[in-house]
Amino acid sequence: MSAKLETIGIAKSYGETVALQPTDLTVQAGEFLTLLGPSGSGKTTLLQMISGLVAPSAGRIEIAGRDVTHVEPGKRGIGMVFQSYALFPHMSVWDNVAYGLRMRRQSREEVKRAVDDALTMVRMNDYAKRYPQELSGGQQQRIALARCFAYRPSVILLDEPLGALDKKLREHMQSEIRRLHKELGATFVYVTHDQDEALTLSDRICLMNQARIEQVGTPVDLYDRPATRFAAGFIGHSNLLEGAVDHERGPAGEPILLTAGGRVPLPQRGAAMPGSPGARHCLLLRPEAPRLVEPKSGFLDGTISDIVFFGSDTRVQLTLSDGSHLSVRCERGLSPCIGDTVGLVWDPHRTTLLSA
Ligand SMILES: Nc1ncnc2c1ncn2[C@@H]1O[C@H](COP(=O)(O)OP(=O)(O)OP(=O)(O)O)[C@@H](O)[C@H]1O
Ligand SMILES: [Mg+2]
Repeated sequence: MSAKLETIGIAKSYGETVALQPTDLTVQAGEFLTLLGPSGSGKTTLLQMISGLVAPSAGRIEIAGRDVTHVEPGKRGIGMVFQSYALFPHMSVWDNVAYGLRMRRQSREEVKRAVDDALTMVRMNDYAKRYPQELSGGQQQRIALARCFAYRPSVILLDEPLGALDKKLREHMQSEIRRLHKELGATFVYVTHDQDEALTLSDRICLMNQARIEQVGTPVDLYDRPATRFAAGFIGHSNLLEGAVDHERGPAGEPILLTAGGRVPLPQRGAAMPGSPGARHCLLLRPEAPRLVEPKSGFLDGTISDIVFFGSDTRVQLTLSDGSHLSVRCERGLSPCIGDTVGLVWDPHRTTLLSA
């Protein structure tokens, strides 16, 4: 069971502070949408207005086509999970999960079936008689999820639910949350400031910055086609090459950007068009796009100033002639040394043009 969610011009101010500018956002029924952004960008504010815990200063919210702006939180068909599990310490796991259902005055049999189902779903059946303090952090978070799932809300809001867990457990719980999203079929709106988590989990990401939406798109859209420098910088590692469009074109007629480190080809598509000679631009070059070649045989030359091993790959840091740095993924088998001078080539279509 899932429902479409829509915010229309929803906004929030606290006195002089604008917590969220007027925001239009549509989340499709059954979709997994992540609100991603730095601290203070308005993620929790947006989520809390959807839940009904915070009243908007302007705009409206629709769930399954119904205006719920003035409907109380318990009657919106929404479930919430927070970073702090907020389990009742004096109640067993089973009673914690049953609590909300009993509040909804469901029959004894209905409650039992729903609690058992929810505990099975999060694989915590064997822990039903324990108390929260007898569980690990990851187990407590599973119970918090079960408590929310038990009454089968059609929209589930999750605010940094894995924030308190260590990296290994977080990654495990991420795949659990993906599985649960599929099993439940509900609409998920998930808040995180962790870009890797957003890329892994989401059907679409809504990137937020300074109380507004910066860009909405699939993880691939945001990684390959960031619309702004902020988006390019927030998701993945980005090298930004700045310069002006050259008067002369390249050998194949391609437009050229004159950067401090050298002349580099421009892609002929993307968010921004190359424009006329002299126009200033910024080119996004992801670390995995370039290939190391002999010096003077590529677009740019650089000197290796650092080598960082990441386990899955090795990154070399290059210092260009103007003193700026580029981070480049190094293929396995190559063994660069600090101090070596190397050239760089890449397919221009693997770069993205951003307005300077
Ligand atoms: N009750 C409040 N009173 C005044 N200002 C508030 C209140 N709640 C939030 N704000 C402000 O609104 C802005 C957005 O806050 P919000 O909690 O939505 O950010 P966030 O993106 O969730 O950040 P974080 O990643 O740190 O949780 C911040 O500048 C914050 O200080
Ligand atoms: Mg927050």
